[in-house]
Amino acid sequence: MLQPFETFALSPGAPKIKLAQVGTGHRGSGFWGKELLANFGDVVEFVGLHDINPGRMAYAKEVYKTNCPLFSSFDEMLNAVKADYILVMTVDATHDEFIVKALDKGFNVITEKPLTTDEVKCKRILDAEKRSGKKVTVGFNYRHSPHNIQLKELLAKERVGKITSVDFHWYLNVYHGADYFRRWHGRMARSGSLLVHKATHHFDLLNWWLNSEPVEVTAYGSLDHYGKNNEFRGTKCRGCEFKDKCKFYWDITKDDRLMHLYPANEKYDGYLRDGCVWSNEIDIYDKMSAQIIYANGVTANYSLTTYSPYEGWHIAFNGMKGRVESWEDIPYLERMKVDQATRHITEMEQEGKADSKDVREIMVMDNFAKTYEIFTTPFIKSGHGGGDVRMQKRIFVDPSDNPHHIMAGTREGAMSILIGIAARKSIQEKRTVKISELTDLVPMANRF
Ligand SMILES: NC(=O)c1ccc[n+]([C@@H]2O[C@H](COP(=O)([O-])OP(=O)(O)OC[C@H]3O[C@@H](n4cnc5c(N)ncnc54)[C@H](O)[C@@H]3O)[C@@H](O)[C@H]2O)c1
Repeated sequence: MLQPFETFALSPGAPKIKLAQVGTGHRGSGFWGKELLANFGDVVEFVGLHDINPGRMAYAKEVYKTNCPLFSSFDEMLNAVKADYILVMTVDATHDEFIVKALDKGFNVITEKPLTTDEVKCKRILDAEKRSGKKVTVGFNYRHSPHNIQLKELLAKERVGKITSVDFHWYLNVYHGADYFRRWHGRMARSGSLLVHKATHHFDLLNWWLNSEPVEVTAYGSLDHYGKNNEFRGTKCRGCEFKDKCKFYWDITKDDRLMHLYPANEKYDGYLRDGCVWSNEIDIYDKMSAQIIYANGVTANYSLTTYSPYEGWHIAFNGMKGRVESWEDIPYLERMKVDQATRHITEMEQEGKADSKDVREIMVMDNFAKTYEIFTTPFIKSGHGGGDVRMQKRIFVDPSDNPHHIMAGTREGAMSILIGIAARKSIQEKRTVKISELTDLVPMANRF
């Protein structure tokens, strides 16, 4: 098994994989920058960086310890660099612009999730990929955690027969959940809502685990807790007059890296990383549920909450012969003692070390059986359950290591966001939305 921070060497004399990156914020300069170089610096190198915020771009260059040029325009960067991949790590609603331009210039692309935020942009990307003959890889890191792969393996061998329904519930706690409402994510026009920004991970897992594609979605959602739902509000946590009485007060000044990334560069774009969670401009939902019907007949019931006392998830696959059930970080199932503030900080770190004592569990129970089986994988606390570093290894070091078609492209990217986009439309229009209303892609009963 891959050990985090193991480095990989190419055969002597082999050229490194050349990367040009747009978007050098938290995810860009961290996981796709500093951490990528720490883990795979023998294999990859940066040949160009671009960010609309010149301060953030300069900071990235400093932490990468690279000599590569900084570009004040994306087009200039595309014209100047010889790159194997363009890395797209910008605000979600802008991904399409960079993906389409890069494809049309003849580059392959690696993009962060979500592929994009609406169906029109999605079609632009699919069309550009087709006409360019180049390829987009979508960074669905959650697939790559050992726990999620073990679930996939049990389902692929039909351990409990044909699956007919799924219950899937994701709980963001009052630290991680609230953080989406402090940032650009709280604006529908930037993130497409958490049904797209966040749930794209969950819908992609569902699509992959079920090996099928969605045909229709019925959803409910509202903004009940954050945004307008409070009697007081400020602009940002720093210097806020309500600091002493606001449970969501968050002191960004305690985090050196975040201070360098954001407050130090507010002068360029005015972006507040510690924006008020009670802002009246927040227009996304904080409570969401969706029912998804798949082309293979499976019905999935999904929910996402953003103000839970604990962070975790629970899933159950109901099959004709039994039930596969699993979870992460449900306190009464894990008997966890970790406090939730610490848990949020750990998850944001990249050091995906396995904790030798703890395991992730999957419970498999056959109908009429008196006992059940438990399958386990190591418990990896950070780096998205160990998925982050494993995904990068598959992309840059060992592309032939593609178990269960784990690597995702535009079709997978599209099918996951289309569930979120359909859910958003379903909430707005109070009706069931068919995937065929949003795309020419015809949902497959069996993807592979
Ligand atoms: N896979 C995961 O688990 C995961 C985790 C975090 C973030 N993400 C994704 O990574 C991406 C970046 O998120 P983040 O948390 O780093 O956000 P961020 O705000 O820290 O960084 C975004 C960067 O994009 C830049 N940018 C915005 N618009 C631009 C434009 N038009 N041109 C050039 N640069 C522009 C900003 O200046 C900023 O530096 C998002 O798509 C997000 O969904 C994925």
